[in-house]
Amino acid sequence: MSKLLVRGGRVIDPANNLDGACDLLIEDGLVAAVAERIDAPDAQAVDAAGLLVLPGLVDIHCHLREPGYEYKEDIASGTRAAAAGGFTSVCCMANTHPVNDCAAVTAFIRQQAGRVGSGVRVYPIGAVTKGLDGAELAEIGEMKAAGAVAVSDDGRPVRSGRMLRLALQYADYFDLPVLCHSEDMDLVDGGVMNEGEMSTRLGLRGATRAAEEAAVARDILIAEALGKRVHICHVSTQGSVQLIRDAKARGARVTAETAPHYLAATDAWVAQYDPNTRVNPPLRTEQDRLACIAGLADGALDCIATDHAPHHADEKKVEYLLAASGISGFETAFALCWTHLVEASYLTPGELVRRMTCAPAAILGLPGGTLSVGAPGDVVLIDPAKRWVVDPARFQSKGKNTPFVGNTYTGCVRRTYVAGRPVWGD
Ligand code: DOR
Ligand code: ZN
Repeated sequence: MSKLLVRGGRVIDPANNLDGACDLLIEDGLVAAVAERIDAPDAQAVDAAGLLVLPGLVDIHCHLREPGYEYKEDIASGTRAAAAGGFTSVCCMANTHPVNDCAAVTAFIRQQAGRVGSGVRVYPIGAVTKGLDGAELAEIGEMKAAGAVAVSDDGRPVRSGRMLRLALQYADYFDLPVLCHSEDMDLVDGGVMNEGEMSTRLGLRGATRAAEEAAVARDILIAEALGKRVHICHVSTQGSVQLIRDAKARGARVTAETAPHYLAATDAWVAQYDPNTRVNPPLRTEQDRLACIAGLADGALDCIATDHAPHHADEKKVEYLLAASGISGFETAFALCWTHLVEASYLTPGELVRRMTCAPAAILGLPGGTLSVGAPGDVVLIDPAKRWVVDPARFQSKGKNTPFVGNTYTGCVRRTYVAGRPVWGD
């Protein structure tokens, strides 16, 4: 019988409205007890004095790149990066090569995670359409049977409203949520950054916020007309937040995420033409950043997902127009959010932890995200006062593409455990 006793930390478990000094006992991979004082002389003890003790973070949107793009990331490096970032469950998008649009690829991802993964739980997300090309539905039922937890064409929107409607109906039949990359690519029209004063000044083609907002509105309305649920990925604008808030107020079954970079950076960061600021949807304005934070505070936005999108240096060390979109996000996610949401006094620690644990877990029905007795023994220990400088050379991820390089943030992941077993320790 394996026992792990985490002593003397500040345990925050939003699902149980808990925030206080507690010991935590994990036995045989599951949470066995959380109490002010636990005596377990036969357990392996870890001193968590001065540290936060949280449910392992849950990421419902990342890119692990395997199969096919192992030069950007693979399941071994991606799950190591996840563990280093405090994540114990991650859901990987289907834009691999081949695309995860059938049971064989879904099963491969799970097997590979078991063979070479860091121990972090990997949940594949299947494609909505075959090859992500928007023409024909993927084998959704077979992917569900092989372990898919949702479907999404992320990286691309589902262009046809009719196809999205079919997908919402068909996926619901298998009780799988549809995750929408909501952007109207005709409206994006080759834009590489947010359209506005900054894009004008820099002479870069802008993408109007309406490209996102029109798609968010469409995706919600199509789902609402069917009475089906829909999840909106990587919300980045004030208008999108308001559309989702309004939809929730009238009872639509919509959930939504934003990503750490929209909470920590703006289009002003593009000023030096750093290709690492290129991401889809693009970094927006300060007003949008604050609106996303307000959305997390009032529940218009349900959760934070990393959209960890590692790329090879060769795809980023090119001029802005040619650079791949995406930010390597696992290893900076918590610190960006802790610094910009909690230290900046917009969210309490418990509110932030909720949006990175039980809230995302609930959207996809994943185990974990809480320290309830009987829950998976997934836990992360974080030093909330430690300031550190982002140095991608030290990332576990192969993707060194981060615009946050050289900046100082607060909140450092010390140890990560999955089912009571260490998967990361500094
Ligand atoms: O910036 C992005 N990168 N946005 C996406 O939607 C896809 C992702 C990727 O796969 O690189
Ligand atoms: Zn996306």
